[in-house]
Amino acid sequence: MDLAQEASQYTHAKPPMPRVRLPIVIVGAGGIVRDAHLPAYKKAKFPVAVVVDSEVGKAEALARQFSVPYATASLAEALTVAPRDCVFDVAVPARYTADVVRQLPDGSAVLLQKPMGNTILEAGEILKLCQEKRLTAAVNFQLRYAPAILAAKEIMDNGLLGEIHDMQVIVNVHLPWNLWTYLFAAPRVEILYHSIHYIDLVRSCFGNPDRILAKTVKDPLAPEVATSKSVVILDFGQSKRAYISTNHNHLYPDTQASYVQWEGTKGMLRVTLGMNLDYPGGRPDRLEIAARGESLRSLPIEGNWIPDGFAGSMGSLQAYVNCDSTELPTRVEDAFETMRAVEAAYISSGNL
Ligand SMILES: NC(=O)c1ccc[n+]([C@@H]2O[C@H](COP(=O)([O-])OP(=O)(O)OC[C@H]3O[C@@H](n4cnc5c(N)ncnc54)[C@H](O)[C@@H]3O)[C@@H](O)[C@H]2O)c1
Repeated sequence: MDLAQEASQYTHAKPPMPRVRLPIVIVGAGGIVRDAHLPAYKKAKFPVAVVVDSEVGKAEALARQFSVPYATASLAEALTVAPRDCVFDVAVPARYTADVVRQLPDGSAVLLQKPMGNTILEAGEILKLCQEKRLTAAVNFQLRYAPAILAAKEIMDNGLLGEIHDMQVIVNVHLPWNLWTYLFAAPRVEILYHSIHYIDLVRSCFGNPDRILAKTVKDPLAPEVATSKSVVILDFGQSKRAYISTNHNHLYPDTQASYVQWEGTKGMLRVTLGMNLDYPGGRPDRLEIAARGESLRSLPIEGNWIPDGFAGSMGSLQAYVNCDSTELPTRVEDAFETMRAVEAAYISSGNL
């Protein structure tokens, strides 16, 4: 059997899923809930009981579109109708996350959208609140659960690439920034909102780096956002390289790129993250493998980062809550380490 044939045994890797799906109460009915959370939950058959949004019209519109029985502007009201065993799914702008967490019932389970606050101070406040309230809390770092990434991890965990000594994330794409006007006023943009996924992914493969070196900069052709391109080096010592290079204002369709790549002593893997290409239309994700010195060959995968990764992060939380799994990989304590790495990147870059 050659490497690609051997690897194709592992491409059906699935995220943890609970045996019984618990009902979800969503707080925030914005773009990401419409385009990713709700489509993923529908596909993975997670029941959604309530949608809350301070702009009630948005909650009502999504409730209608996805057949959710209850929509309200008030979390307090949502708590009176929510099933006792519900799991909360908070997807509000980061500056409101702590406020929402404060209102959740003690002891409940919650999935928080990334970033976990805008700064390490806000991340620390959210972590402390979650611990004081004894919440089972995780952060929605759903790239870890994209089908192609799960497959790649399974292939590497089974030793097919040998010793992994190199990981790179390369993104040269054009984002229509007007879709996220709330970012125009934000002092931190690229690393906090985009590279954070890739930093978290590197951490999930290699653990915490010894240190971070970074530069994040403004593009004269995207003056409305604080920064749109970055280079982040995660230092894992003398015999392993990990870096992220992103340019989200790359205006040349022929040279777009969006991939994560691992090299080992026996071969390499590349995952193309199609969602970033031709945004917002996107293209399908791809998984390719090559034995040492050979050309890349495609491996079959089912599904994409968006929306399927979102079912994985909810599945992982619910499986943990239901005791169907003993680990919660994106628990807030681990997410705080990703926020620490983000903070270190901004300090290294000399930005806010
Ligand atoms: N891949 C990803 O993981 C991903 C992608 C995009 C956005 N996000 C994150 O998701 C969050 C939401 O992003 P978005 O693009 O949907 O933003 P959005 O502005 O489209 O939606 C946010 C919604 O939250 C509502 N809201 C604000 N405060 C609230 C409160 N206290 N209670 C109830 N509702 C409240 C707003 O009215 C709005 O409808 C952000 O933190 C963003 O970083 C994550």
